[in-house]
Amino acid sequence: MSVTVPVELRRAFAELAQSARARLVVMTGAGISAESGIPTFRGKDGYWTIGSAEYHPQEMATHAMFAREPEAVWSWYLYRRGVCRAAEPNVGHDAVVEMERALGDRFCLITQNVDGLHLIAGNSQARTYEIHGNIDFVRCDVDCGRTPWRLDDDLGRGFVRGDSVGADVARLRCPGCGGWGRPHVLWFDEYYDEAHFRFDSSRRAAVAADVLLVVGTSGATNLPMQVGAIALQKGALIVDINPEPNPFSQMALAGGGSFLRGSGGDVLPELASLLRR
Ligand code: APR
Repeated sequence: MSVTVPVELRRAFAELAQSARARLVVMTGAGISAESGIPTFRGKDGYWTIGSAEYHPQEMATHAMFAREPEAVWSWYLYRRGVCRAAEPNVGHDAVVEMERALGDRFCLITQNVDGLHLIAGNSQARTYEIHGNIDFVRCDVDCGRTPWRLDDDLGRGFVRGDSVGADVARLRCPGCGGWGRPHVLWFDEYYDEAHFRFDSSRRAAVAADVLLVVGTSGATNLPMQVGAIALQKGALIVDINPEPNPFSQMALAGGGSFLRGSGGDVLPELASLLRR
């Protein structure tokens, strides 16, 4: 489905390219990775819709469940990690990399996705805020001071839903204190912070944004909705790319911005091309 980029939006992106100061914040959700074959969360085949074999889907994304059933939660995350590592960045991810290359320090990426595809595509760690963490990383369950470390590459490969962790459990211990390592992702019964999830940095980016480009998120989470509300209140131009109306498309239209009803892969390459000087 091709989506027409309105003339006024084309003009705004051309001005962004020519400006010395104007800043672009891109904020992404599971929708940008859908075209890489990774299920979203709340779509008809989404993770929270079909969940895992034994538990109510969202229960698996809580520290309370990890405390009770650490191996079951690791099984679920190693399965999801295998899905992520079997996926490649798509043209939408590549377009977001092109935006960073065009704008440099006038660019910032806030992603809810833990799949790591933005970094694999080429966005920089410094300008990429992974506000829900990264499924390739582990951190100490009692925060003993050890910085998050990367999971061994083979962990999760070939995992199917419900596989048990088995002997690999030994490779999920904290190298610092010997206790449990836990997936470096934000769970429903936990809170955003700056150290792990760039909470303050994301809000500051929203305050400074001249353009907020939102792609593939349903508006179900707190910090992204704060980013959108701050940008709207500060008078930023908001653009939402999504096949379905959602709170961000409403914010975009409320602020005189654009709702581009389509997929990330359809629209992002054209917007990126407008930033080439
Ligand atoms: N291009 C753009 N958007 C798409 C595409 C696509 N090809 N396919 C689906 N979408 C949209 C859907 O219409 C939906 O609005 O992506 C959105 C996905 O919404 P969710 O499944 O709710 O995912 P997301 O918004 O990223 O969830 C946010 O919730 O449970 C937590 O940690 C989890 O990071 C996740 C957060």
